[in-house]
Amino acid sequence: MTGFHVLTLFPEMIINGLGESITGRSIERGFVGLEAVNIRDYAFNKHHKVDDYIYGGGAGMLMQAEPVYQCFKAVEERIREGGNIKPLRCIYMTPQGRVFNQQIAKELSGEEDIIILCGHYEGIDERVLEEIVTDNISIGDYVLTGGELPAMVLIDAVSRLIPGVLNNEASSDTESFEDGLLEYPQYSRPEVWRGKRVPEVLLSGHHENVEKWRRAQSVIRTRERRPDLLSETGCRCH
Ligand code: ADE
Repeated sequence: MTGFHVLTLFPEMIINGLGESITGRSIERGFVGLEAVNIRDYAFNKHHKVDDYIYGGGAGMLMQAEPVYQCFKAVEERIREGGNIKPLRCIYMTPQGRVFNQQIAKELSGEEDIIILCGHYEGIDERVLEEIVTDNISIGDYVLTGGELPAMVLIDAVSRLIPGVLNNEASSDTESFEDGLLEYPQYSRPEVWRGKRVPEVLLSGHHENVEKWRRAQSVIRTRERRPDLLSETGCRCH
């Protein structure tokens, strides 16, 4: 089981966002562990204040180091009490990180516990990041208002690779990116919809021909929509 521990100022976002559909079911069934811990609960000052002005000036506020550190320490201690003695990954969601992809998702799906830190406002005091963060991960070259949506994206992508999460074990490895190609087009009933027929080969029952057709479609589709995937160094299949 992979356990995700999200450090955030908005725990409901995480719990509600992942509590539905396949991720929700896999949490209920115990294939995936999820807790969202409120950093504010670790601000041991009068008003549970977690942010302050930025030294040197500039717009906005910064999350202070101490509440983030205390929150991390509490979560780390609980994970250790649970018996995990392996080095822990603490991922900071930031546009300055390595850009998330299927390869990283696969790598993370082998971890027992993953701590994910979500920033807000203008970010987090650099000193605590230096102290606790092992990985900086971005979900793309654009700036969001906080790390919660990126954390949910990462958790969703990693969860569906964990055995038991998808009903059909095979369905995660025929999909887009799994072999560096986009997925082939798919069809369901009816056989003719508004005059458009399902490709004949798919009705033939000839498994080998179906596989050949799908593979060819994947290559065509990738060349059309994501030619960058075919030209990338390390491409394993063409
Ligand atoms: N926080 C704000 N923008 C982000 C992004 N693009 N990826 C990860 N975390 C972020």
